[in-house]
Amino acid sequence: MGAEGNNLIVTHIPVMPQEVDHFLNCRPGQIILDCTVGEGGHASRLAEKISPGGTLIGIDRDGEAIEVARRQLNRFGESIKLEQSNFRDLREVIQSRGIEKLDGILFDLGVNSSQLQDPGRGFSFRADGPLDMRMDNREESQASDLVNRLGRKELEWIIREYGEERFAGRISRRIVEERASRPILSTTRLAQIVTDALPGRGKIHPATRTFQAIRIYLNGELDALEQALPEAISMLKSGGRICVISFHSLEDRIVKFEFRRWDRQEGMLRILTRKPVRPGIEEVRRNPRSRSAKLRAAEKL
Ligand SMILES: C[S@@+](CC[C@H](N)C(=O)[O-])C[C@H]1O[C@@H](n2cnc3c(N)ncnc32)[C@H](O)[C@@H]1O
Repeated sequence: MGAEGNNLIVTHIPVMPQEVDHFLNCRPGQIILDCTVGEGGHASRLAEKISPGGTLIGIDRDGEAIEVARRQLNRFGESIKLEQSNFRDLREVIQSRGIEKLDGILFDLGVNSSQLQDPGRGFSFRADGPLDMRMDNREESQASDLVNRLGRKELEWIIREYGEERFAGRISRRIVEERASRPILSTTRLAQIVTDALPGRGKIHPATRTFQAIRIYLNGELDALEQALPEAISMLKSGGRICVISFHSLEDRIVKFEFRRWDRQEGMLRILTRKPVRPGIEEVRRNPRSRSAKLRAAEKL
């Protein structure tokens, strides 16, 4: 994980921090919800802006991330409230603290760098580890359960749908052949099977899309976002702002349509970003993980 001993080591670089500052426009005394607090990168900046007198509630479904965030945000004392939870349950999290309305909400989707870098978490195809990929390790199902138990057609659908992988058919066939001899239990074995199933090498590692697909499906990432967005928007005060950073076209589509629905049908949201905001060249150079990020923001009317 990202924190070692008493020395705090934060490995995650927040994406588009200035843009988040600009769109959330936080001020002292405000109540802010960070739905994906991760290692507390964005949250630290937001906590500075809402003090004195503000409250930041930080949610993450990953208990290890919450521990890193706790240390990272320790200096802000009682104004920070952290909770290991899935953001689809954000209404309960907020209301259980006696709060009804929020001034600002941030979603910074996907995985954090510690999750990717720790081989034991099983997210990375580069390092050998168990085929796990659970964001919340209290959940029962691991990636290896999907890979070894699902039917070929279902695997193909997941890899095509969530990985946007045109070779999903070949990959799923190869997985089913390989697991017949012995179960696929490690990240590097799955990465090798995927690599062998593909005709040639492209710009990205051949296993990138398949790993992404399995992670998104296993963790129910799109369903959680679909459930959380309307809850989040309904909990904003008039004039409150929401900002969502996504890393996958399916996530961005969900955000775009939900914002539009509240804008057109309900007339309750003003969209602040007609097109998604992308990181600048300099940021992508410094932090390559930011290259696929898209930020959308809106204000409650
Ligand atoms: C890109 S990181 C956030 C980084 C953070 N903004 C920072 O600056 O350090 C995404 C985080 O969202 C968490 N996450 C993903 N889906 C979630 C969900 N449905 N509920 C709660 N947390 C979730 C992941 O565990 C991960 O820590």
